[in-house]
Amino acid sequence: MSNSANTEKKIILTGDRPTGSLHLGHYVGSLRKRVELQNTGEYDQFVMIADLQALTDNADNPGKIRDNILEVTLDYLAAGLEPDKTTIFVQSHVPALTELPMFYSNLVTVSRLERNPTVKAEIKMRNFERSLPVGFMTYPISQAADITAFKARYVPVGDDQLPMIEQTREIVSNFNRIYGEGILVEPEAILSSNSACKRLVGTDGNAKMSKSLGNCIYLKDDAKTLKQKIMSMYTDPLHINVSDPGHTENNPVFIYLEAFSTDDDFANFMPDYKNLAEMKEHYERGGLGDMKCKKFLNSVMQQMLEPIRQRREEYAKDKGALLEMLKKGTERAVEVSNETLAQVRNAIGINYFDDKTFLDKYI
Ligand code: TRP
Repeated sequence: MSNSANTEKKIILTGDRPTGSLHLGHYVGSLRKRVELQNTGEYDQFVMIADLQALTDNADNPGKIRDNILEVTLDYLAAGLEPDKTTIFVQSHVPALTELPMFYSNLVTVSRLERNPTVKAEIKMRNFERSLPVGFMTYPISQAADITAFKARYVPVGDDQLPMIEQTREIVSNFNRIYGEGILVEPEAILSSNSACKRLVGTDGNAKMSKSLGNCIYLKDDAKTLKQKIMSMYTDPLHINVSDPGHTENNPVFIYLEAFSTDDDFANFMPDYKNLAEMKEHYERGGLGDMKCKKFLNSVMQQMLEPIRQRREEYAKDKGALLEMLKKGTERAVEVSNETLAQVRNAIGINYFDDKTFLDKYI
């Protein structure tokens, strides 16, 4: 892969905070899509380990982030990202990503930041109140830098990231109005078309799978852990006896089947039904037990996660090679983003020492 951005291809950028191993929410929300996009060969894709963003609410615990850099890298490779097709890099080692937010922060109002629904929800969950770090409040600006530094047109994400994309579009449009068009690109989200995948519920039925809620299935969970988690999943509390009519809506077992199962899975593991619609119909009518549903879900998930676990194990054997790969990816990211940074500085007109019209005025 050449070190400058491949301008013939549409550019993709996305990333994850390295605060823990990646879970199924990450996988269906975005990671699976990135692998698909990578394999079309039609895009120049950048995937970033967002350690600077992770620091915005972990300033006192940088060790947690250090420990998860290689964990997340392994999750990426296990899921099927390939370093010679996708550029994987570390945010904190790309200087343009700390410089651009300084310029962008002048194009965003405090009240606009305060209206960001995702940030609002995160602040509430963390009980920040008056101890809210400035860096956390402004991370959407930094995220706009992540996206625009690479001139990314597409950002594959879960739907909680839509406010960040919207904020980025506004920054780009303000920048273009003031400093001129033609440098920054307005990005678009790529969301999963399956609504169960846009924001995967937790195993406890909570609206979001999240490490802090302890309701996650991790990509690296072994077969036994996975089975345990599935067997103890929350289902329909009103479905007490097998013969009782059940509810499939808001029932995480059925939401996961919606997200993961295919008609082939029915042929292989659950031939009583042709597809999920038939199975749901039986559950709703009464007569289909939760145990049977969970066992089926377990078969589906084990089959999906087994190759991911195997690849993880393979890649984990050589940590030195992983680091080397990250370093190379980061070098490419630095070069590509520095080109954008230089253009931004020129557009703002602070390129005093190499701007001929400026210099001619004085010497
Ligand atoms: N906010 C994302 C998350 O919480 C991580 C992230 C940082 C990101 N920069 C990005 C995602 C740029 C997409 C594009 O996981």
